Amino acid sequence: MQIFGSEPQIMGQAAKVISEIADIVDINMGCPAPKVVKNGDGSRLLLDLELAREIMAQVVQNSTKPVTLKMRKGWDSEHIVAVELAKIAEDCGISALIVHGRTRDEFYSGVADWGIIKQVKEGVQIPVIGNGDIKCVEDAKQMLEQTGCDGLMIGRGALGNPWIFRQINDYLQKGEEPKEISEREKFQVIKEHFELLLEEKGEYTATREIRKHIAWYIKGMKNATVMREAVNRVESKEEFEKILKEYFECQENIV
Ligand SMILES: Cc1cc2nc3c(=O)[nH]c(=O)nc-3n(C[C@H](O)[C@H](O)[C@H](O)COP(=O)(O)O)c2cc1C
Repeated sequence: MQIFGSEPQIMGQAAKVISEIADIVDINMGCPAPKVVKNGDGSRLLLDLELAREIMAQVVQNSTKPVTLKMRKGWDSEHIVAVELAKIAEDCGISALIVHGRTRDEFYSGVADWGIIKQVKEGVQIPVIGNGDIKCVEDAKQMLEQTGCDGLMIGRGALGNPWIFRQINDYLQKGEEPKEISEREKFQVIKEHFELLLEEKGEYTATREIRKHIAWYIKGMKNATVMREAVNRVESKEEFEKILKEYFECQENIV
């Protein structure tokens, strides 16, 4: 479970509570959203390393589980602090680091700097997880080779492609090239995804949230535009399930 905030005492209290139910407590020092940084939280802490230190010390002290830190490269090109912050984190007892190779200023644009991940890896003893722009198995291999990192974190590359984790494992462990995902498996996974959304968020929100996921899942498939437009009008569970079934039936008669 991840927490963000900039008041060391409160972050410590939060860690105490959530570490009872979480396996790992992760501190967010990467979020670039204006509503988060304007309160001094998320990536804003990259401009105040002493406060970042106090927060990490409090969280580590109060957590009954390992604490990790998610960070960006720095605030902007004038404030590249990843290596310094990583050393402070190690000093505070943080168990592992996740480094996104972009500054706050960059948000999600441009190309992630994997060089900074390599520098962090070389600067600390604790495990370093590389993050940013891993979209396929080859990217995963390159990230490991170029940075020497210990693990990978994948964000946008998993949207519409939750198979990426299996594909990367198969590629790295068995040298298997990723296979095309069958229509049947896609259908089953989308169905399960929707059922989980329903369970978690109820029909109103699920039928709306599934819209963006459908767009990612069916990108490049036949009649994707028509399907996207149809799903965007869906308001009930039954309607969605019907449209999904019909769409996949006319792809390959697999349902
Ligand atoms: C929609 C969205 C939501 C995100 N939410 C979080 C979050 O809650 N906590 C976090 O540490 N990072 C969050 N991130 C950032 C990702 O963890 C990751 O650092 C970033 O997307 C770069 O990795 P990628 O190129 O694999 O997407 C989010 C990213 C996206 C696109």
